[in-house]
Order: sequence, then C-alpha cells, then structure tokens
Amino acid sequence: MTDLDEGGPRRHVALIGLMGSGKTTVGRLLAERSHRPLVDTDSLVEAATGQSVAELFGGEGEAAFRRYELDCLARALARSEPSIVATGGGIVLTDAARNLLRRDATVVWLRAAPSTLAARLGDDITRPLLADRDPVDVLTDLETRRSVLYDEVADVVVDADGPDPVDVADRVAAVLGWTS
Ligand code: S3P
Repeated sequence: MTDLDEGGPRRHVALIGLMGSGKTTVGRLLAERSHRPLVDTDSLVEAATGQSVAELFGGEGEAAFRRYELDCLARALARSEPSIVATGGGIVLTDAARNLLRRDATVVWLRAAPSTLAARLGDDITRPLLADRDPVDVLTDLETRRSVLYDEVADVVVDADGPDPVDVADRVAAVLGWTS
C-alpha cells in the first residue's frame, strides 16, 4: 500500500459529503483495507457528551453540536496514528474545521445525488435535519449550500451514487494510489 502522505502532516484520510453518502460504511471498508483505525466524528461527539446527535440538536441546539463536532475533529486529527476519519455532513460549515481538514488530511468528497441519498436514508429518524421534512428537498438544499465548501476542502471527489459501498471504497483506494 502506498500513501503519499503516510506519516506526514496530512497523515489521515478524511471522508466528507452529505448524509447518506456512505462516509461511515466506506470508511469502515477503507480502514479494514489499510489496517488503519476508523474514527467517526458523530460517534466521538456522542461518546464525549453521552447524548445522541438528535438529543444534542433538540437540547443544546445545532450550534452547540457544531462546537462539540469541531472539538472532536481536532482530537481525531491530532492523533499521530494515520486514521480514516468519517465526518458528519456539516463538518465543513466552520472555517476552523475546514482549515484542520486541509492541514491534516487527504480529503475525499463522496458525492451522490440528493435523490440517491434520500432513497438510501429512507425513514431515518437519527438525523435531526431530516425530521418532518421531505428528505429530497432538505438534501437538495444542503447540496446547494454546501457543495462550494466540500469543493473547497476536497483533494478528490469520488462518485458515491452507486449502490455498492465496496465499489466506492475501491474507487477511493484507487485515487489514493493504494495498491492491495
Ligand atoms: C449532519 C450530518 C450527520 C450528523 C448531524 C448533522 C449534517 O452526520 O452530523 O445529524 O449537518 O449534515 P452524517 O453525515 O454522518 O449523517
């Protein structure tokens, strides 16, 4: 396996993209393949606060969630061990998070159409931004507002529209120059 950034300042691989793009699933596959740990920022936030993402949004609010999320991203990227970092879809919203990602990770944007993402997420009840609204509308709106931010931090964009996460992981591995 080769990785141009192995051990260097951009030692991690971070996956970004909208909800449902497969960041955690593809991240798990990449972690297995590269023998690196998978770190998931939503899970870190939940572990740090003892609350689910939905509970945090409903209680302390989205702004508080974003502060926890940034803190957890910073901790994940500070690890010396090269890791696969699966992020929450809104990680790119703060300048600080974008700067950390650019500095410490090779950033892969998993891009898929809002209709694909909505179909994949189905009736998911764990994602507060989708609650009580049409998922295609929400995801289309998020895509419109966030694409510029994903594009700003991404080193590579990988099509994640297809149904098989193994294919997506293969594509990511190929663009990273990993050989199996
Ligand atoms: C969010 C995405 C979620 C989670 C939270 C907010 C967003 O993560 O962080 O519900 O703003 O897009 P996933 O992208 O892993 O679903």
